[in-house]
Amino acid sequence: MNYADIIDVTEDSALFGYELEGPGFAVLTIDGREIKSLEACGTGRFRVSGLAPATSYHAELSGVGLDFTTLPAPEGPELCRFALISDPHISVKEENRKGRFFVESAALAAESFAAARKLGAEFVVLPGDITNEGTEEEYRLSRSVLDKAELPVHLLPGNHDHPERGYWERFCGPRSWRMRLHDCTWIGADTSDKRLHAEDARAIREAIENGEKVIVFSHYQLFEAPRISHKPNQAVGNREEIGDVLELIRNEPVMLYVGHQNICSCAPCGKALQLNLPQTPQFPCAWILVRVFANGFYHRQVPIASEVMRQWSRRAGNEAAAFYGEPQWRGEYRMQSYEQSNFVWRG
Ligand SMILES: [Fe+2]
Repeated sequence: MNYADIIDVTEDSALFGYELEGPGFAVLTIDGREIKSLEACGTGRFRVSGLAPATSYHAELSGVGLDFTTLPAPEGPELCRFALISDPHISVKEENRKGRFFVESAALAAESFAAARKLGAEFVVLPGDITNEGTEEEYRLSRSVLDKAELPVHLLPGNHDHPERGYWERFCGPRSWRMRLHDCTWIGADTSDKRLHAEDARAIREAIENGEKVIVFSHYQLFEAPRISHKPNQAVGNREEIGDVLELIRNEPVMLYVGHQNICSCAPCGKALQLNLPQTPQFPCAWILVRVFANGFYHRQVPIASEVMRQWSRRAGNEAAAFYGEPQWRGEYRMQSYEQSNFVWRG
């Protein structure tokens, strides 16, 4: 059966990925237009531009029906643009596993930095699992990739980084941080041990109580997300201890960017919004570009350059889900709907 999905939707464009069941030309029909692939290799992408904002469209891609609605037109000048590249799991392994690219992990991270630079990102945030096993060799490799990013990078440790071994501070710097930028307070919290620590909780509390617009980054989710359902208790474990801060977050329009599960999910938590970010080394093999306008934060999913690799990860993930009985590797589950990662947060 032919496969097609919607990867990226903006106010005036859409990006589709496909893998046909065999060789042949792919055909996309949309809005009275018909576009044919130049090659008949059966795997590729179509980017359609010139679409109207806030408009619903129906597309047919080689027999697969796809419905989507473009984002509303942004208001005023763009204020800032940044990239979220989560869980690159930079590894020195010589074999891939369950749809995950280990062999290509460093190359994919480097490619993502180059793409973020080309797309005009001001800075990049990496909310954890920079390395796969937290060894010195992986840290050295990660540092060499980060040094070539040619962009300011803000790093947070994840469980795979094992910051307790001491390499984190040596190669990556502080475990948590905060900054004031574009009238927002940006707080990076170290949740690598699945806990929101007192000093990060305090920083979030103070910023909210000062009436600041708060953006939080964390490896683990701060709240459960209904779409991430393959096993319970995915959020930080010390929720009782920090219950007052979580309640404060729920009552304010705080934006939370989290990694770890890498299942595209955008979940309201009271007035706050929590986005679980995709990752580059496993389907949907993507990162998120955020453009900030007066009327909100515009999110879009940017896939790795190769649709062939993206489709390999999807197929291998589906096969691993069946082989190991682990549903979290299924492509459909990891991708969810394009709306989970292409949306406007109005704050
Ligand atoms: Fe993790």
